[in-house]
Amino acid sequence: MIMDGNGRWAKKRFLPRVAGHAQGFERVRNIVEVCLDRGIEYLTLFAFSSENWRRPQDEVSRLMGLFVMALESQVTHMHRNGVCLHVVGDLSRFDARLRELIREGEERTRDNNRLTLTICANYGGRWDVLNAVNSWLRDNPGAPAINEEDLAPYLSLPYAPEPDLFIRTGGEQRISNFLLWQLAYSELYFTDTLWPDFDAAQLDLAIASYRKRERRFGRTSEQLLER
Ligand code: FPP
Repeated sequence: MIMDGNGRWAKKRFLPRVAGHAQGFERVRNIVEVCLDRGIEYLTLFAFSSENWRRPQDEVSRLMGLFVMALESQVTHMHRNGVCLHVVGDLSRFDARLRELIREGEERTRDNNRLTLTICANYGGRWDVLNAVNSWLRDNPGAPAINEEDLAPYLSLPYAPEPDLFIRTGGEQRISNFLLWQLAYSELYFTDTLWPDFDAAQLDLAIASYRKRERRFGRTSEQLLER
């Protein structure tokens, strides 16, 4: 999911943008509960892109504060509910406290398997692919070429299947450098609803839309009927 529209949600209420992010965090908590309830096994959220550093300094530091608070307050609750937490992206730019909380949260929840929650932070799809290729080249010096199967274990989410459904809130119809490789066959769903307003009923609408679609993976409809 790309959680877009926090700023506009706040602006409509004459509130500062950070109030929209705080409400966005409340929505994250709610949507995780809804996914647990609906039996969804993998949820991947784009929380901070590599381009988001360009935002005003105050907004960036308030977002970092929100991530710290989220980890401090939620990991115990996640653990009790069987959530396995992963945070992926270039974490080297985050401060030591945040990196330590991420490490502890991942370590504590690593054996849970009810819902695998991945937070993409300082993440970019192109970074993910390049990072994977470079890591593979380091492990395979002098190899003539790399193929798809070689790359998969080097990408940021080797533990997760490719997404069935991509959801972007907030009205824009773009992938914006999210999971470029992994979204190759995903169904795309865009809604004008702003992220803080994206509730259980909205998620159910997205799932209903997904269920109506025919996933052909390049085959014809007739071939699918024969299988
Ligand atoms: C996009 O809205 C949202 C973000 C860049 C930040 C996402 C963060 C959260 C939902 C809160 C915390 C999340 C976690 C996982 C702890 P925008 O600011 O671009 O909105 P706009 O397009 O209306 O300006």
